[in-house]
Amino acid sequence: MLEGLVLGTIFATIILFLVLFLAWRFRAVLIFFWHEKILVSFVNFLSGMSKEERILSWVKEHAMAGNPQSVLDAIDYYCYNTEWAMNVGDIKGVIMDRIVEEAKPRVLLELGTYCGYSAIRMARLLPPGARLFTIEFNESFASIASQMIQLAGLQDKISILKGSTQEIIPQLKKKHEISTVDLVFLDHWKDRYLPDTQLLLESGLLRKGSVLLADNVICPGAPEFLQFVRGHPRFQCTHYPATVEYLRMRDALEKAVFLG
Ligand SMILES: C[S@@+](CC[C@H](N)C(=O)[O-])C[C@H]1O[C@@H](n2cnc3c(N)ncnc32)[C@H](O)[C@@H]1O
Ligand SMILES: *[C@@H]1O[C@H](CO)[C@@H](O)[C@H](O)[C@H]1NC(C)=O
Repeated sequence: MLEGLVLGTIFATIILFLVLFLAWRFRAVLIFFWHEKILVSFVNFLSGMSKEERILSWVKEHAMAGNPQSVLDAIDYYCYNTEWAMNVGDIKGVIMDRIVEEAKPRVLLELGTYCGYSAIRMARLLPPGARLFTIEFNESFASIASQMIQLAGLQDKISILKGSTQEIIPQLKKKHEISTVDLVFLDHWKDRYLPDTQLLLESGLLRKGSVLLADNVICPGAPEFLQFVRGHPRFQCTHYPATVEYLRMRDALEKAVFLG
């Protein structure tokens, strides 16, 4: 009887410490979900706006119309100081800038527009005549992005294609008169990275030297995609370690150059 009680107490104590240890070990993830799932819904309810509408309204107040850098700076400032959001952010953004400048793309494709941050980031570096197509299936995000791009003055360089990547990629050649793409930025849901890479290959949209650039290959991660491009004899890969946008957790970009 007493023995059972003692054993039970020891067992419960071990479990309690285990739970506390795990909560501490993964505190960043817990805080993140508390913020994203609970606090954001509460603030949406109070403000009658979505987080993305709040970002847009901040940018309208703090950026200079026609100045893409000021739009990026305003978004980054808001997301560091007020609310986290899933833009690629300034740390990985600087790495992207370098890759875009090296690749000198004329036709760019982005999978996952969200508020237009990375589209503005890439398009601001493009020479006259170069075009960026960005695919987004969430209507409200597409509408925010369209206003953000207008504000940055980049509406002549960027076209938002509304719909899912799996439906739009096979139509790019015929419907949008694209023969091949020079650079693809993959930043949509992570389980689509591999099937959409295969779609790009099947649709004949990649040429010798086309660059795939994938965000979040560590956090939340895209292991099937990484395994595919790294194991594929026609892709040459480079890993760019960085951190998750606006946070200190580890993440990385992966560049995969198609060798034709
Ligand atoms: C991480 S956000 C993109 C962030 C953006 N590239 C930036 O850095 O500013 C991912 C976006 O992809 C969109 N998305 C996810 N899966 C998609 C799909 N299969 N087709 C089209 N859009 C998709 C989501 O609605 C979301 O807006
Ligand atoms: C778009 O995203 C918002 C915010 O996550 C969500 O509330 C809404 O239901 C989404 N809309 C569609 C059409 O998926």
